[in-house]
Amino acid sequence: MDLFEYQAKQLFAAHGVPVGLGEVADTPEQARAVAERIGGVTVVKAQVKAGGRGKAGGVKVAKTPAEAYEHAKAILGMDIKGHTVHRVLVDPGAQIEEEYYFSFLLDRSNRTFLAMASAEGGMEIEELAVQRPDALARVPIDATVGVDLAKATEILTQANFPAEVIASTADTVVKLWETFVQQDATLVEINPLARVASGDVLALDGKVSLDENANFRQAGNEDLEDKDAADPLEAKAKEKHLNYVKLDGEVGIIGNGAGLVMSTLDVVAYAGEAHGGVKPANFLDIGGGASAEVMANGLDIILGDPSVKSVFVNVFGGITSCDAVANGIVTALGMLGAAATKPLVVRLDGNNVEEGRRILNEAAHPLVTQADTMDDGADKAAQLAHSAN
Ligand SMILES: Nc1ncnc2c1ncn2[C@@H]1O[C@H](COP(=O)(O)OP(=O)(O)OP(=O)(O)O)[C@@H](O)[C@H]1O
Ligand SMILES: [Mg+2]
Repeated sequence: MDLFEYQAKQLFAAHGVPVGLGEVADTPEQARAVAERIGGVTVVKAQVKAGGRGKAGGVKVAKTPAEAYEHAKAILGMDIKGHTVHRVLVDPGAQIEEEYYFSFLLDRSNRTFLAMASAEGGMEIEELAVQRPDALARVPIDATVGVDLAKATEILTQANFPAEVIASTADTVVKLWETFVQQDATLVEINPLARVASGDVLALDGKVSLDENANFRQAGNEDLEDKDAADPLEAKAKEKHLNYVKLDGEVGIIGNGAGLVMSTLDVVAYAGEAHGGVKPANFLDIGGGASAEVMANGLDIILGDPSVKSVFVNVFGGITSCDAVANGIVTALGMLGAAATKPLVVRLDGNNVEEGRRILNEAAHPLVTQADTMDDGADKAAQLAHSAN
């Protein structure tokens, strides 16, 4: 789960990381009121979960509360890389002397944690990593040892931080590491970490990704969720404990096992090229124990998506055999009754496939067509979706 900048900086502040942090506003009037409270120069910043906000015109300096009002008016509603701005952060304006970069992240390919730091912050780190790789220090962190002042100093020295800021910044780095560990984060990033006129070094921006697998022991994570952004179908699927991701195509997909569902998406996208360019409408993995109820819940979610024109059920019978899945489909269609209106292509294979196919044949539901292979099923489903368009 990615956080907004203001949430990231609130977490940093709670762990003692020095931040430049004001208050959020949902309207230009609120932004003006915050700017009045802060006094002096402020910075109005779009709160969207996308990088490059500054370049997109989503970060603006305001000399007066009236200017903060105008900037907020321009920024609210703005589209930044497909994200609409619903909220701005009004921060105290900082007099920046130098901008640095610092992050801790989970380095999956090296099976370790990694510190990345540079005395040349401000610009996009991906760009820096490509153009001036030497300017970006990468220091692996042993999870069993962690980061103490000595380690922090070593990282900052390697990253060419100026000698006069290393001591105070090392303390910040240790606190940032504590934030990373205690919040079960997979990324904590500060860009820029800025030295301001007073000599202090503070986080003017913040990016945090939290590991949702740790939600059971992170009671606060629920409050950090962006409930407005959740797709209503995804929210409903989550309630039913279904592994569902909404996509923007027309062919609903149900399969068992993440790998099979992923390849089903590919095969349907490929088949769709011959049928007006239709695409998969979702990812849905009903898992191993595909009971009638799980099948009914899955179908209910998918059929509730107005952009779905046909559904492809692609199941490989394993522990749950094909006859159980076939019974699940028949029962699910019975449970849904008139709510089921879109054609279903079903491909069964694996354990007890003959019995599964026999059950579907015998039920002879008018919406169900069977396919022998995955390619054949994908093609039929794509064709049905296209002709319904
Ligand atoms: N409080 C502030 N006072 C003065 N200048 C600021 C302040 N906050 C940000 N800036 C300036 O604006 C630049 C961009 O801000 P910020 O890093 O928050 O957004 P961004 O990097 O464009 O967005 P993202 O991090 O999403 O890519 C900073 O590098 C800094 O120069
Ligand atoms: Mg930034």
